[in-house]
Amino acid sequence: MMQKPLVVGNWKMELSFKGEIALAKSLSTQLESDEISAEVVICPSFTSLSAIQELLKTNPKVALGAQGVHWEEKGASTGQISVNHLNSLVTWCIVGHSEQREITHVTDELVMVQANLLLRHGIQPIICMGETAEEKSADKTLDKISNQLEVILSQLNRVTLTKTVIAYEPLWAIGSGETPDPDSVSEIVLLIRKLIASRFDQEIAERVRILYGGSVKPDNAAEYVGGPSANGVLVGGASVHSMQFVDIIKNVQRKVA
Ligand code: PGA
Repeated sequence: MMQKPLVVGNWKMELSFKGEIALAKSLSTQLESDEISAEVVICPSFTSLSAIQELLKTNPKVALGAQGVHWEEKGASTGQISVNHLNSLVTWCIVGHSEQREITHVTDELVMVQANLLLRHGIQPIICMGETAEEKSADKTLDKISNQLEVILSQLNRVTLTKTVIAYEPLWAIGSGETPDPDSVSEIVLLIRKLIASRFDQEIAERVRILYGGSVKPDNAAEYVGGPSANGVLVGGASVHSMQFVDIIKNVQRKVA
């Protein structure tokens, strides 16, 4: 079954409030066109979500996501963002991003608490996973992916799994300009599908959307999608430049079409 490609922009902490509003306006205009067939999600900062939601309300082509969420629904957690803050604003949320893991030290198990909390509130989680540079050089990539996926799959059922997106992001490729060989990404995607099929079945394995992320740019995005590879990309740095992000979307959809 042909899946619509999914392109997610993670704006991180790169822009000011004004800069995010300007970028959202520019993207909204450029992505309104009929030419855009991919599913597009943008993840601005928490403080811009409400204004950008308003700005996108007449544009069905762009969905809104958050960059993270706390693992508890409510409580005395100064400075944190709860799912209750997000559930009227976003339909997607990134969890387990390596930059978040570094700050909060969340384990894979806690990432799944976040994912299930989001799912209970009708928000689709984008779960990030991937190996570090050390694991790669020790030839431990496949072990790391299998172990992380084991935790993910143990905490989801058939229904919640199909609402979840898995993003393979080798940590050494994030923000570094270094990228993996496209064949190695296809190999990881196949491994993820194989592990899903053995725990659930082939049909579910084909339905789950898998993204590649890490230094995705207009000139390399298409190499990681289509055929046996990923269903889309998770873009950081290039997603805060509207022309680059639109080019990535077009290159991805052209390849997958
Ligand atoms: P990058 O970030 O595209 O800047 O490498 C990707 C990410 O952090 O998701």
